[in-house]
Amino acid sequence: MAIGVFDSGVGGLSVHHALVRRLPSADFIYLADQAMTPYGGRSGEEIVSLTRAGCERLFDEGCDLVVLACNTAASVALRRLQQTWLPGYRRDRGRPLNVLGIIVPTIEAATGLPWTQETERLGDRDRGDKIERLDVLGIFCTPATAASRVYEIEIDKRRADVAVFSEACPTLARDIEAGAPEADLRADVEAHVRALTRRIGRPPDRAILGCTHYEITADLFRAALPAGTPLIHQPGATAEAIALYLERHGEYAAGSGGARRFLTTGRPGAQNGLIERFWGGPLTFDAA
Ligand code: DGL
Repeated sequence: MAIGVFDSGVGGLSVHHALVRRLPSADFIYLADQAMTPYGGRSGEEIVSLTRAGCERLFDEGCDLVVLACNTAASVALRRLQQTWLPGYRRDRGRPLNVLGIIVPTIEAATGLPWTQETERLGDRDRGDKIERLDVLGIFCTPATAASRVYEIEIDKRRADVAVFSEACPTLARDIEAGAPEADLRADVEAHVRALTRRIGRPPDRAILGCTHYEITADLFRAALPAGTPLIHQPGATAEAIALYLERHGEYAAGSGGARRFLTTGRPGAQNGLIERFWGGPLTFDAA
């Protein structure tokens, strides 16, 4: 048994990295849908069906639990899959299977509040207080994640004193995936930081790299944002949440051999230099 980690490409490695550090003896299978990357400009229906196919592939490999290490898949497809597909699939397979995302842990980290279904009540309570100071949160993400407005909606329900501004970066994940030169990535990151700053009227107080690919270029974001702007660390928040989930749910076997497998629907082999640098060594993918 193993934990499955799914992304459209190599971005989810940032979450995988944090998961491996948090759960060193668990077995992991990482699946990159590089044949279909990037997801960020695709329609909702395409994202749902590609995400479902990725989960099925990982369940077929013996995973019980799949982590969608992709904001685009999690914001567009996760709820649909949990409500419409997963219950029947789990019944047919006759074993406990689940799919979790990275949005909830990120929102918990951004709001400092645990996730609760009673958001209406929480929202009403917060809204009664006078807001002394607005905390402006910038989200850099794909067009599909920005269009879903998931961060705006969920954070607004929980914290009326946090204003969320999303900045869609249509080409950044694709360029990271393709191993574009760092100078090109830097220029793109700087342009998006400038665009968001212009739209807000000042730089954000905090930021979320709301696409797992962007973590690989976190240094470029740090350099483009005013010095010291806190970045909410999505991989760390996710790894912590998954570890707590596994403690509470003994029915999901995470394995204990520390095995790591990397699969791709694209071209098997070594990843580009930027990814290897981020990973800290050579990283080879097998055909999915
Ligand atoms: N890494 C993914 C995310 O977190 C998706 C990038 C893409 O495929 O466009 O949104």
